[in-house]
Amino acid sequence: MPLELSPEEFGLLADRVSRAAGDYLAGLDGRPSFPATSGPVTAGVFGLPLPEQGVGAAAFDDLAVIADHSRPGNARFFAYVLGSGKPVAAIGDLYASVLNQNVTAWRSAPAAVTVERTVVRWLAEVIGCEGFTGSLAGGGSSANLMGQAIAREAKAPANEGGARPCAVYASAEVHMSVPKALAVLGTGRANLRHIPVDEAFRMRTDALTAAIERDRRAGIPAIAIVATAGTTSTGAVDPLREIAGIAQAQGLWLHVDGAYDGLAAMAVPELFTGLAQADSIALDAHKWLCCRASARRITEALTVRSGHS
Ligand SMILES: Cc1ncc(COP(=O)(O)O)c(C=O)c1O
Repeated sequence: MPLELSPEEFGLLADRVSRAAGDYLAGLDGRPSFPATSGPVTAGVFGLPLPEQGVGAAAFDDLAVIADHSRPGNARFFAYVLGSGKPVAAIGDLYASVLNQNVTAWRSAPAAVTVERTVVRWLAEVIGCEGFTGSLAGGGSSANLMGQAIAREAKAPANEGGARPCAVYASAEVHMSVPKALAVLGTGRANLRHIPVDEAFRMRTDALTAAIERDRRAGIPAIAIVATAGTTSTGAVDPLREIAGIAQAQGLWLHVDGAYDGLAAMAVPELFTGLAQADSIALDAHKWLCCRASARRITEALTVRSGHS
């Protein structure tokens, strides 16, 4: 089968795939949390030699077999904090793939770029951060990476001359994506100061101030604080208002990792006082918004306080 399909052929194949997807969803709750398969069995079924000839529409014959050798996302499956994978999002994904936009600039994708800006604006508004702008990212980890890249460029520019020693502060309960981000950026994991937490697992601001002062005395520039709005282990929200005050007094960038709980500010804003003083925020709609998120591609965002580019 050639890669080019007529619109009629496309419609027929799409119908076939949507019927297979519907059958899968109809039986989803009855599937075990791990399929009855093994490495040798999947290698036997899928690890075939490179075909010399195209197989045409027969390439779609194995849809049910693929499902039978996949881990089902049903109520028996508790591992990982996955995107909610709502079927409606799959339909949106299909259409987005067909439109195949280059979302680098408004002129390349007027609708997609405007939808992205609008979704980020909505997310910012519901957490009391009107005026923030930002981008959709592949997940909270990449949003944290983007936040750290922007923070360093703002406080210790490295894009041209390379990274110089500098220090970043986060609680001992910080998500692993933050030290990874500092490793990727060349700031270095050892330059992340793990600030002790109190009995409620929230960053201790006295220890934060002491760590910043220690670095300053040692001649190491302090550049950013990462506050966590909902730690992965316990859901603890760092004292954002106090931390924002310290960041402002010390001239540091404040990034809030709100991937886990940030969107709970919709329900209990009083727990998140100070959030709007952040310079950047990472949010994961696939966690708190879960079923309400209507499209997988609209699940993550990095939002940056207006005025920062
Ligand atoms: C506090 C926190 N930050 C960041 C992340 C990473 O998010 P993602 O899995 O979307 O990359 C998580 C994931 O659980 C998290 O709990």
